[in-house]
Amino acid sequence: MLYRLARLGLFQFDAEKAHDLAIQYLPKITGTPLDFAFRQRLPQREVECMGLTFKNPVGLAAGLDKNGECIEAFGAMGFGFVEVGTVTPRPQPGNDKPRMFRLVEAEGIINRMGFNNLGVDNLVENVKRANFDGVLGINIGKNKDTPIEEGNQDYIICMEKVYEHAGYIAVNISSPNTPGLRSMQYGEALDSLLSELKEKQQELAAKHGKYVPVALKIAPDLDDHEIEQICESLLKYDIDGVIATNTTLDRSMVSDLKHGQESGGLSGRPVQLRSTEVVKRLSELLKGEIPIIGVGGIDSYVSAKEKMQAGASLVQVYSGFIYHGPKLVADIVKNI
Ligand SMILES: Cc1cc2nc3c(=O)[nH]c(=O)nc-3n(C[C@H](O)[C@H](O)[C@H](O)COP(=O)(O)O)c2cc1C
Repeated sequence: MLYRLARLGLFQFDAEKAHDLAIQYLPKITGTPLDFAFRQRLPQREVECMGLTFKNPVGLAAGLDKNGECIEAFGAMGFGFVEVGTVTPRPQPGNDKPRMFRLVEAEGIINRMGFNNLGVDNLVENVKRANFDGVLGINIGKNKDTPIEEGNQDYIICMEKVYEHAGYIAVNISSPNTPGLRSMQYGEALDSLLSELKEKQQELAAKHGKYVPVALKIAPDLDDHEIEQICESLLKYDIDGVIATNTTLDRSMVSDLKHGQESGGLSGRPVQLRSTEVVKRLSELLKGEIPIIGVGGIDSYVSAKEKMQAGASLVQVYSGFIYHGPKLVADIVKNI
């Protein structure tokens, strides 16, 4: 009820302005009596995944809290885990505005943000200050102006800086909004990235006396052969998890809708089915050897359950959370 009112207000603004207002005010309200508006006490639903204990299997997907400014607020809403980022080595402004659009009829969002963020050092400072009893994922990426051939280096820089502070590290090579990024999902480029990350992970684990799992985040726009190749690489380099999926370039579900032809990545209900198909295929190929985090179009307990039945151990929400608010987290956790 309260979220419906808040949504009514926020949806008066354009999508990015509403997002910025929420990110600005949530930390101010959290910990004050006003946070009754979103604080929820949820039943414990423990899940072991990637060697970590999650108090419940519902997480916030990357991109909503890019700089780690609202970790406590999302903790208060009952998320079992929060993935902050994508963060890049250096701060960058992202693409020109407007770059985020609501497709209300379809409960979808199109974005071409382009990894706007304040840089990894800023994120680490925010993370150090946060008081959060869930698992914190830190999602890392490359700067737009780093040539793709030198992309690995950006991931290594971020990994070194966030390692100590992360519950797990998500490696994002699937955003459609950084030119060339998705080419890192294929063949030799993927193998070279994963082998460097694995080597660095082992070095940092020894240095810090703490093993931080690494999960790869992939796109929904992959054919079967490409998914098979990714699975081979994940197994070969002993990667700890896979997050499926990011946003889609496919517009077939929304081509007639207002904003349906905007460029960028489409998320929310229109990507639900495709994401679930990818999760299912990963699950068939990985046979339980590498856990899957399912994300894409989860808008109810039923669609969360579908991801889990397809093989996901954990789920994440972004667009569904924008349309339904904290109640979505409660509905999934209570019924799972
Ligand atoms: C506005 C917006 C920004 C996003 N930014 C990121 C990002 O920085 N890194 C990332 O890995 N995914 C990002 N995503 C993708 C989400 O994390 C998620 O994978 C995708 O939206 C599918 O989930 P959903 O249908 O629940 O939104 C973004 C999504 C949206 C809508």
